[in-house]
Amino acid sequence: MQDVLDFLNANRDQAVEQLKELLRIPSVSADSAFLPHMQAAAEFVHSALVDAGLDAEIVPTDGHSIVYAEWTKAEGAPTALIYGHYDVQPPDPLDLWTTPAFEPDIRDGCIWARGATDDKGQMWTHALSVAAWLKTQGSLPVNVKFVIEGEEEVGSNNLDQFLETNKEKLKCDVAVVSDTSQYAPGMPAITYGLRGILACEVTLTGPNRDLHSGVFGGSIVNPVNALCGLVGKLIDGEGRIQIPGFYDDVKPLTDAERAEFAALPHDEEAYLGDLGTSAPFGEAGFTTLERRWARPTCDVNGIFGGYTGEGPKTIVPSTATAKITCRLVPDQDPHALTEALKEFFEDNLPPGITMNFDTAHGGNPSIADLNSPYMAAAKSAVEKGFGTAPVMIREGGSIPVVSSFDQILGVDTLLLGWGQNSDNLHSPNEHFSLEDYHKGTLASACLWSELAGNQN
Ligand code: BES
Ligand code: MN
Repeated sequence: MQDVLDFLNANRDQAVEQLKELLRIPSVSADSAFLPHMQAAAEFVHSALVDAGLDAEIVPTDGHSIVYAEWTKAEGAPTALIYGHYDVQPPDPLDLWTTPAFEPDIRDGCIWARGATDDKGQMWTHALSVAAWLKTQGSLPVNVKFVIEGEEEVGSNNLDQFLETNKEKLKCDVAVVSDTSQYAPGMPAITYGLRGILACEVTLTGPNRDLHSGVFGGSIVNPVNALCGLVGKLIDGEGRIQIPGFYDDVKPLTDAERAEFAALPHDEEAYLGDLGTSAPFGEAGFTTLERRWARPTCDVNGIFGGYTGEGPKTIVPSTATAKITCRLVPDQDPHALTEALKEFFEDNLPPGITMNFDTAHGGNPSIADLNSPYMAAAKSAVEKGFGTAPVMIREGGSIPVVSSFDQILGVDTLLLGWGQNSDNLHSPNEHFSLEDYHKGTLASACLWSELAGNQN
């Protein structure tokens, strides 16, 4: 084990150089203009895993390819399935980047580029640790299987199919994902719960064309006004979502869990100050952490209709659209609640308005077993890598594959986030601390021996 850690300590610069190479590939999954780069990124990951000593293949899907790799010579030892994603969010708005998004730069102890933390840098820690074991020991204490996809940022639409088709090949004891965050700098965390999500787009139509608001206004329904009215009905003054049945399947927080959340350091004023807002908002009777991690939401992500250009324009618009997401908690069902949201709109639609309702994507919430031996192994590995025991947290973000691993492969996922929520993931100037990159790599190297039951 010490040989592996010594090797990783001695090869920090190479690990950064290799990540830089991967970050130079603009693998933006959402935009077809980047298509050739998606394949290049898959090939980069594939060849690095082959060089590390794994059997690897690039598996085509109806969308972007999946890289699969395995090393399964640890007979009788547990098998870990490592998941990550090589696709990244679009880099826009480009002019807000200090250095270009796909020209990784090292400054202030961080590596700056789109994908630095989400998820190229985080996932690469596992590639490095596995390579170090094979290089120095010629073997790993556990079997490993890598699934690195290219569609996480666009809803993982072809991943479940891959999991179903390859159920036997993917057989494992536990999944490992580094695509979340630490609780705070210097406070590593294991995330045991994630929220699910439902996403939809609603378009209301009133008159068959934009009309003069003086000539016709007041005599026919305005779809932008109507949409705002409907959105206004979604949440009451106490922060409670008004969709009938919305809370029926919500698992209440236990007193013990509430006490654990409350024991975590949280400075409400600093939190609000950082976000540039003066007051918290949310469901009455819950704290900020409870609202973010364990209570559901309903948010308009974007709303548009009518004239939005410069200067006034006097019209009654023909249409109005809202993009809406709900974050869901155990045991809420994205499909049932998408239907409930649609019915809520239908039931409250003013006369003269027609509605088109499109579903964008959905994903289940998840919660892991805190008492599994894998969780104990993960805690110990994080403590060895970071020099501090991890705190146990939930997160408000969504990684739908975690529920798929449970439902299709029957395994729990260890969410070992090495990033920080302040790393600007999905924002301009995304970065990843080089210290976190290295410590995450050490923790990953320790995880394989901890999972095998070797505590040395
Ligand atoms: N890595 C994030 C999720 C995340 C970030 C979890 C920080 C916890 C802390 C992931 O790549 C992501 O952004 N997921 C999407 C899922 C959606 C597109 C289905 C999300 O949460 O919006
Ligand atoms: Mn993301």
